[in-house]
Amino acid sequence: QHFFNSPLPLKGKKALVSAGPTQEAIDPVRFIGNHSSGKMGYAIASALQSLGATVTLISGPTQLPTPPKVNRHDVTSAQEMLVACSTYFEASDIIVMSAAVADYTPIEVASQKIKKKDVNLEIALKKTTDILATLGEKKTAKQTLVGFALETDNELQNAKDKLKRKNLDYIVLNSMQDKGAGFAGDTNKVTVIDNKGGMQQFELKSKKEVANDIVTLIAAHQAAINS
Ligand code: CTP
Ligand code: CA
Repeated sequence: QHFFNSPLPLKGKKALVSAGPTQEAIDPVRFIGNHSSGKMGYAIASALQSLGATVTLISGPTQLPTPPKVNRHDVTSAQEMLVACSTYFEASDIIVMSAAVADYTPIEVASQKIKKKDVNLEIALKKTTDILATLGEKKTAKQTLVGFALETDNELQNAKDKLKRKNLDYIVLNSMQDKGAGFAGDTNKVTVIDNKGGMQQFELKSKKEVANDIVTLIAAHQAAINS
């Protein structure tokens, strides 16, 4: 009860947030990447900090400044992000995985720059470890675990499947079909689905406001756990 009325409802709580893209090296000068800006994850880290949480931000390469009073840990590859997230996971009450982790990485990294030769070039890739699913297997009843889903089709069903498969409390569905939503911009339109069958659709708004909506749900979940 007083948890909710407190100006700092997450005081004493530890939070882990992943953000940004990962980069998977092909050779010393090239990588496979994606268009994630990191803005959504950084906004969530900032919002959690504002509610009193001690926040660690595991960040792939971004152009963003570190949010005030957030402990930032930079990584490059999916494997490095897995190691960093695994290190902080157990001690964390709140875990939000907003990073756009590469699903595939080169099987071998060429030690020298690959020279231009034939018309076609094939690079053999292998699956990366699913960080969120790995953490989901270890989740305890005290933890709030939140994932994101980026879908272009069959959105709700795909997001619900991910929520179940990865053992999450909430999944934030980012629709690529909405104008003004997605990777690069400052706005987003999301639907949040919980593991009890509940669903909330939010309007198009700034990523900062979307972060506040998500963090409000997280604070309520933590309050319920602690009551
Ligand atoms: N994720 C992760 N590790 C990966 C891939 C994804 O932790 N190797 C996390 C993302 O941070 C996100 C969630 O899983 O919170 C869903 O990511 P998404 O790319 O939408 O789903 P995938 O499970 O990778 O499935 P697909 O890309 O095939 O839709
Ligand atoms: Ca993916």
